Amino acid sequence: MNMKERSPFCPGSPVPVELFVGRENKIEDIMNYINNTIQGKQENIFLIGSRGIGKSSLASFLRYYVSSEMNMVGIHVFLGRVFNLEEMVRHIFEKFLKETKGQTWFNNIKSFFGKYIKQLGLFGVSLTFAPPSEDLKELVRKFPEVLNNLLMEIKKEKKGLFIALDDINSLAGKSEFADWYKSFVDEVATHYDNFPVFIMLIGIPEKRDVLSELQPSLMRIFRPVEIDRLSDEEVEQFIIKAFESVDIEVSPEGKDIMVRYSSGLPLLMHEIGDAVFWIDTDGIIDVYDAMAGVFNAAENVGEKYLDPKVYRAIRSDRYISILRKLGEDHIPQNFKKKDMEVRLTENEKRVFHNFLRRMRELGVIETTSKRGSYRFVNEIYPVYIFLESGSSKKK
Ligand SMILES: Nc1ncnc2c1ncn2[C@@H]1O[C@H](COP(=O)(O)OP(=O)(O)OP(=O)(O)O)[C@@H](O)[C@H]1O
Ligand SMILES: [Mg+2]
Repeated sequence: MNMKERSPFCPGSPVPVELFVGRENKIEDIMNYINNTIQGKQENIFLIGSRGIGKSSLASFLRYYVSSEMNMVGIHVFLGRVFNLEEMVRHIFEKFLKETKGQTWFNNIKSFFGKYIKQLGLFGVSLTFAPPSEDLKELVRKFPEVLNNLLMEIKKEKKGLFIALDDINSLAGKSEFADWYKSFVDEVATHYDNFPVFIMLIGIPEKRDVLSELQPSLMRIFRPVEIDRLSDEEVEQFIIKAFESVDIEVSPEGKDIMVRYSSGLPLLMHEIGDAVFWIDTDGIIDVYDAMAGVFNAAENVGEKYLDPKVYRAIRSDRYISILRKLGEDHIPQNFKKKDMEVRLTENEKRVFHNFLRRMRELGVIETTSKRGSYRFVNEIYPVYIFLESGSSKKK
């Protein structure tokens, strides 16, 4: 029996570069814009996709790629809990300083930021940048100028700057952000011929819509890049790579099950892979390991990503029999009530009606403009119901 130490799966955190799969076309598109950037043209991308679809992983892959292969300085900043421009610029420059700490030009740059850089910890390994709010306001106002000064310092050795602003969701809803971005882009365009800075905002699709309402001309500025599910081949590639990295063999049947239930969702392939990894005892993933893993993953997914009320409702005895029937087939994200009903008895139809109402109240599904048509508000929910019905069948 082999002793398990560390799972190669990381549900919920950006995937390490070695296990990154897919997105070739998007990467190619983005690399074209990055090439423009290296020529001196400031470029702006808005990377959108639903929660857990792989935005941060793609950004992290790109950052790695531009730093190691394109000789740029790449920074990836998480702004999930940042609500104002001052905090945003503080995060950006702090990341920049951390990123360039080991470099020869660091001391020159450090002098711009002066006494507000603190090297903490043993051997000064951790760094913080915490200027007073007056100075942060200045950094917000003079953002293009400050970036340009940094570019001057790094230009001998680096081709440009890649900045990914991740989880822009709370900022994107603010008009101060929209207006600031617009004037940043305008100022760069009018004052600088050569400004090799690539900026990628990252958020859910709704946020891009909000931003475009706040500042319509921003939509001409941003090139939208949208990412969606992975293909089954890409999921398969990932499963194989991940198990290979820990010397575990995967049977073709076991692999098919993991691929099928992942339904192209990166988050789900990590949840399923992780559950299967911990179940296996003999270093070979067979059908039983895979199925047992899918059932465990269903539990995890329900507990972690669904509201407790939804979780309880879906698991209640009342719905088990219809869930079982619905789960015989993959439930698509959009579905018609009557297509589902054909499989149900009269009694179940009534329960189904209540089920739909309950799911609507809980915000799991919504009606669409077509009568009798519904849509799951995200892609995890139908898969969870699918998984849950599979596991209730087993029970
Ligand atoms: N291309 C990929 N290859 C392998 N695993 C991936 C890939 N993309 C995403 N993942 C995995 O899927 C999960 C979700 O990815 P990630 O956190 O990047 O998504 P996200 O869109 O940024 O989510 P959120 O909206 O929650 O920020 C993580 O476990 C991540 O490791
Ligand atoms: Mg993310």
